[in-house]
Amino acid sequence: MPLSVEKRDLTGLTAIVTGGNAGIGYETVRMLSEMGATVTIACRNAEKGQAAAEGIEKITGNKPEVGSIDLCSFASVAAFVESFKSKHDRIDILVNNAGFVSMAKGDEAYTGDGLETDAQVNHLSQFLLTSQLMPLLKHAAQNKIRDFVPRVVVVSSDAGKVGKVNTSYWEKQGQDKLPWFFGRYGDTKLAFAIVSKKLADIVESDGVLVHMVHPGYVASDIHAKNDNGLPQFMTKTMGWIMNLTARTAAQGAMTSVYCAVSVEAEKSTGKYWYSNKIANYPNSVITNQEAADKFWNDSVNVLKERGYEILI
Ligand SMILES: NC(=O)c1ccc[n+]([C@@H]2O[C@H](COP(=O)([O-])OP(=O)(O)OC[C@H]3O[C@@H](n4cnc5c(N)ncnc54)[C@H](OP(=O)(O)O)[C@@H]3O)[C@@H](O)[C@H]2O)c1
Repeated sequence: MPLSVEKRDLTGLTAIVTGGNAGIGYETVRMLSEMGATVTIACRNAEKGQAAAEGIEKITGNKPEVGSIDLCSFASVAAFVESFKSKHDRIDILVNNAGFVSMAKGDEAYTGDGLETDAQVNHLSQFLLTSQLMPLLKHAAQNKIRDFVPRVVVVSSDAGKVGKVNTSYWEKQGQDKLPWFFGRYGDTKLAFAIVSKKLADIVESDGVLVHMVHPGYVASDIHAKNDNGLPQFMTKTMGWIMNLTARTAAQGAMTSVYCAVSVEAEKSTGKYWYSNKIANYPNSVITNQEAADKFWNDSVNVLKERGYEILI
C-alpha cells in the first residue's frame, strides 16, 4: 500500500532540507514546496542544487532557494548558518536528510577537520547545524503561523541496529583502525539518533519537536557511489534482489514529510518513525540514559576541541 501525506498549507513557513538536491531529499523538498513552504536546499554542489531547484519550480511553481554547505567542514556549516540568518529569522522545518557511506581507508577516510567522513557528515556536522539553527526554530515556536509546531526531522536508518556507541575510530589516529563500511555507517546513524533523542528532551519545553525517521530501502545514489570491496557479480546480484523490494525516492521521502507537516506528529517528540507510524528504534542502546549522556558529552567535546560550541 503506497504511503501518502495529507497536504497542509505551508505558505509563510520556512524549511531547510540538507542533501535536498538528490534522492529522498529532493522528493522531500518537492513535497514541501508543493505545499507552499519557502524551502532552502542545503547542498555541497551549487550546480546540482540549482538544477534541482529549477526542476522543482517547473513541477510546483514554487522555486526553492539554494544554500551552499559541505558537511565535511564545520567552517562550511557555520558559513551556511550565517548566510541563512542574513535572509531568514525563523525555521519551521529542518530536515537533516544528507547522508554518506564511505568506503575510504587510510588518510582518505578523514575530513580536513581530522574526523572520519561518515561521522562528520552523518552526525557531527548536522548536530552542529541543528544547534546553530535552534534559535530560529525557537523563534518560530514563539511566533507560530497557523498553529504550526516547528520541528527537526532526522533522516535516520535501521542501519543503527548494527551501530555501536564507539567514538574511538572517529579521530585520525595515523593508522587505519576503521570498522567495516556498513558498521561505520551504522555507528554514525546510531550516533545522531542518540543525540537527537536527547535533543528532543532538551527543546521540548521550548516548543520544538524532534523526530527520527527510517525511510525504508530506496535504491538511490547512497548505495551506488562506492566500490564496496565485494566481487562485482555479488554486488550486482545483491543490487538486483534489493531493487525488487526498493521504494521509490518519493515513497522513501513520505515518512520525512509526514513527520515534517502532519498534525499527528505534533503529539509526540523524540520518537522513531517508519511508514508514517511510530516504531521501535532497532538498537536498545538508545534507551540507556547514562550511555546517551556520555555520548552527547563526547560529541560536544569533539566539536569544542575544534572551536565550535553546542549551544541549545
Ligand atoms: N536509500 C536508502 O535505502 C536509505 C535507507 C535508510 C536511510 N537512508 C538515509 O536517507 C538519507 C538520504 O539518502 P538517499 O538515499 O537519498 O541518498 P543520496 O541519493 O545519496 O543523497 C544523499 C544526499 O546527501 C548529500 N551529501 C552527501 N555528503 C554530503 C556533504 N559532505 N555535504 C553536503 N551534502 C552531502 C548528497 O549530496 P551530493 O548529491 O552532492 O552527493 C545528497 O544530496 C541519508 O541520510 C541516508 O542515510 C537511506
